[in-house]
Amino acid sequence: MEELHSKALAYDQLDSLKDFRNQFLIPTTSDGKEVIYFCGNSLGLQPKQVSAYITLELEKWHTQAVEGHFQEPYPWFAYHKLLKKPLAHLTGAYEHEVVAMNNLTTNLHLMMISFYQPSPQRFKIMIEAGAFPSDQYAVESQVRFHGFDPEEAIVALKPEPGEETLRTEKIRQALETHADSLALVLLPGIQYYTGQLFDMQTITAATHQVGAKAGFDLAHAIGNVPLQLHDWNVDFAVWCSYKYLNAGPGNNGGIFVHERFARDTSLPRLAGWWGHNEAERFQMKKGFQPMPGADGWQLSNVNILSMAAQRAALDVLQEAGIQNLRQKSIQLTGFLEECMQHTDPEQKYMKMITPAQPEARGCQLSLYVLEKGRYLLEQLTAHNIMVDWREPNVIRVTPVPLYNSYSEVFQFATILKAVLTS
Ligand SMILES: Cc1ncc(COP(=O)(O)O)c(C=O)c1O
Repeated sequence: MEELHSKALAYDQLDSLKDFRNQFLIPTTSDGKEVIYFCGNSLGLQPKQVSAYITLELEKWHTQAVEGHFQEPYPWFAYHKLLKKPLAHLTGAYEHEVVAMNNLTTNLHLMMISFYQPSPQRFKIMIEAGAFPSDQYAVESQVRFHGFDPEEAIVALKPEPGEETLRTEKIRQALETHADSLALVLLPGIQYYTGQLFDMQTITAATHQVGAKAGFDLAHAIGNVPLQLHDWNVDFAVWCSYKYLNAGPGNNGGIFVHERFARDTSLPRLAGWWGHNEAERFQMKKGFQPMPGADGWQLSNVNILSMAAQRAALDVLQEAGIQNLRQKSIQLTGFLEECMQHTDPEQKYMKMITPAQPEARGCQLSLYVLEKGRYLLEQLTAHNIMVDWREPNVIRVTPVPLYNSYSEVFQFATILKAVLTS
């Protein structure tokens, strides 16, 4: 362990992103000690500048009231546009392909209204059997909404027996099996439970080959790994902003719609005034004319206080740069894995279910606990370490390159070892 300690100190010293931690509020215990926070996969920490950005909007509301919609600074009418540049950077998209709006599940429904148009021949949706429950409910309800039976219409992929993650080859085979009846493939960018990073480019190409649409839930991918949604030809994607985007609990999510659909008015969609041609939005005319691009899927006027928080958080990400973050993340999560190998060399107490290859995972490592179960979690909490627990037996440990250090990873491993062997 001594060698790992020296390594952690050396890595921290060389870390060109280490000062970003100072831009975040780190949770503390009642006696003022900073906790080791490894839950950024669930709720990212608060950037310090969030309160200033929100205060500015409260001030504007106070002094300008309704005029704030059109007055500087940052007229509310166009506030969502301020988020486009960083979101486009994070998703590998053009600005007109992305917009922040609603929350993830709402957006998923809106996207399925447009991109899941089942016919009696082509009516199936392919998901993974372990998909996040909200996605499962959304998919089931969409299938029923169109008059199909979820038992027949949902193809739920499972890993091979004895494996934890889905092989791309298995997805490819399933695509061939259901080629003629498949309407939509909906998969995660990164799986919430196992931490597996899917090969979105290959999956999208294979999906298009069988004539279906490809959509991704990027809840755990955006802000975690670089994405190239435009070049990968993804049809649509949805995300939330409270994990690796650090925008705060329940903050607005967003959508990506590939530019080839930007002016496609033949797609069915649920409409609202914020998606209507903005030049005429306040003329209160009949007849919906969608804005070109992702903006045409907006429904309601913008939740400014939320988006102010998100803008503050995205500014930090933009300053750090997703490529730099990924570079550190590979090393930081790799170091966590190395520490785990020293902590529990024979995998007596826990087994890592996240892929070992850096290109097949993001920040998170999921550890399947074989012994001591929730006791372990309680002990970690007692030692001021915050990790999270997913039933039935998984601890998710997520060092985030924006605010976590190598020394924290080392401390985690030291405490874990002490608990495991006590
Ligand atoms: C993978 C995944 N999908 C969907 C959701 C649901 O998001 P929302 O509550 O914003 O609709 C979550 C929430 O954590 C998630 O992790």
